[in-house]
Amino acid sequence: MQPRHFISLLDLSGAELRNLIYRAIQLKTHRDPDFQPLKGKVLAMVFEKSSTRTRISFEAGMTQFGGSAIFLSPRDTQLGRGEPLEDSAKVISSMVDCIMLRTNEHDTVTTFAKYSRVPVINGLTDLLHPCQLLADMQTYFEHRGDIAGKTVAWIGDGNNMCHSYINAARQFDFKLHIASPADYGPVQDIVDAAADKVAFFNSPVLAAQQADLVVTDVWASMGQESEQKKREYAFRDFQVTEEVMQAANPDALFMHCLPAHRGEEVAAEVIDGSQSVVFDEAENRLHAQKALLEFLICR
Ligand code: CP
Ligand code: NVA
Repeated sequence: MQPRHFISLLDLSGAELRNLIYRAIQLKTHRDPDFQPLKGKVLAMVFEKSSTRTRISFEAGMTQFGGSAIFLSPRDTQLGRGEPLEDSAKVISSMVDCIMLRTNEHDTVTTFAKYSRVPVINGLTDLLHPCQLLADMQTYFEHRGDIAGKTVAWIGDGNNMCHSYINAARQFDFKLHIASPADYGPVQDIVDAAADKVAFFNSPVLAAQQADLVVTDVWASMGQESEQKKREYAFRDFQVTEEVMQAANPDALFMHCLPAHRGEEVAAEVIDGSQSVVFDEAENRLHAQKALLEFLICR
């Protein structure tokens, strides 16, 4: 049987994604320590970039489900010394039951998946961050119910998170308002495939009008540290402020995948305010990914 991978939200159907969200909510609300569907199973985790939430949630999730996780930094493996990806994928997937990768280039994950005999999960690339969207959707569903027909405002960089929000708009059937500085918008192919779901605005306040959820992310992602100053200038009018939140619907939520920079992409009053659900969002990485691991490994 061919393994199912989770490299993009588009790898699962809309119905499968919705079922994952319901399952994640169930796992969170009815925690049963004796339920160990992954007993004896092993997850390998390859990290080319730093992580707090992704590493801990996958490792804790595997342990709670009776399995285990191995943290692999390229510095400590032959991957970092140039062993071909194809060979690494064949070798690692012959010993474990699932592999999660966080890589600089998206192609690394797709190539790895091509040669893996077990499911491969994208734990963030320069292009996409689908696991974060499972947690974000779970958080919205918990607080406000189904997101179908709602409006989400994306403020800031057209980055991996923005791309995954565009894919989520297709799969979960919501409208996405995007406000990004010129030259920092999302890639055209991803936008074109979601043309009926996405609308662009010149300012955060305009994008936030009628929004049920306002989302942002850092101005400089991992790997873009040298562009920090240039980006601070380009993004200076793209902060989620109280004024932006006031333009949204009164019961709008605020989300951020974290880590955040207060005073840059978001004002402290917003991220630490009553509409912010960022810590539920972070916790839900654990529950959503447990649902994902169960779905991929227990087929
Ligand atoms: N949101 C997120 O992926 O966090 P980490 O970089 O800490 O894993
Ligand atoms: N866009 C950010 C997300 C971090 C979770 C980055 O890629 O660094």
